[in-house]
Amino acid sequence: MIIAIDGPAASGKGTLARRLAARYGLPHLDSGLLYRAVAHHLAAHGGDLADAAAAERAARALDPGQLGDPALRTRGAGEGASIVSAHPGVRAALLDFQRSFAATAPGAVIDGRDIGTVICPDADVKIFVTASPEERARRRALELEARGEPADHAAILADVRRRDERDMTRATAPLKPADDAVELDTTALDADGAFAAAVAIVDARTAQR
Ligand code: DC
Repeated sequence: MIIAIDGPAASGKGTLARRLAARYGLPHLDSGLLYRAVAHHLAAHGGDLADAAAAERAARALDPGQLGDPALRTRGAGEGASIVSAHPGVRAALLDFQRSFAATAPGAVIDGRDIGTVICPDADVKIFVTASPEERARRRALELEARGEPADHAAILADVRRRDERDMTRATAPLKPADDAVELDTTALDADGAFAAAVAIVDARTAQR
């Protein structure tokens, strides 16, 4: 079974994907980490995020064993990821890894921006997770504070809006719900409420098959 979870920055899709993976006994891939790793590698080697060829080389050389690096979870890495992910060569370089991850038994839960539309168009279940920009900024600030990082709420809201704009308007694989995705608005839900709603979506979809 392949479950595709897409949605904007800080929509809660990562937490949801992790919990769904545990629930259904599937491996989980946070595809955002791949783009974060590319941005982090470039930044660490004095590269320019806007340099498409350098970013593609970094993507081709990516070591998936490094995805646990806490440096990939910072605000800077997320912002950098949003920039490098607009380069078509970077997306192409990361495609096979994601598709193979999904194709390996017993399936997978993958979260990202284009999983239901590009990476796994035949996924058994597609959920598009949303929440208002204000609520997403509030959650991101709590996350950063919990990790001891400074959280300037206005700056985070501006970040969320800028990332939405960039992720939705890029030419290659823009963020958008697949035609057959179920939309899940978590603005008024806590993590448990969102999880229960997602399980109901998965169970309803799989019961139809
Ligand atoms: O989900 P995240 O915040 O870790 O993603 C960081 C950036 O990576 C996001 O702004 C856009 C990009 N991304 C993407 O283009 N496609 C994906 N499947 C996942 C992330």
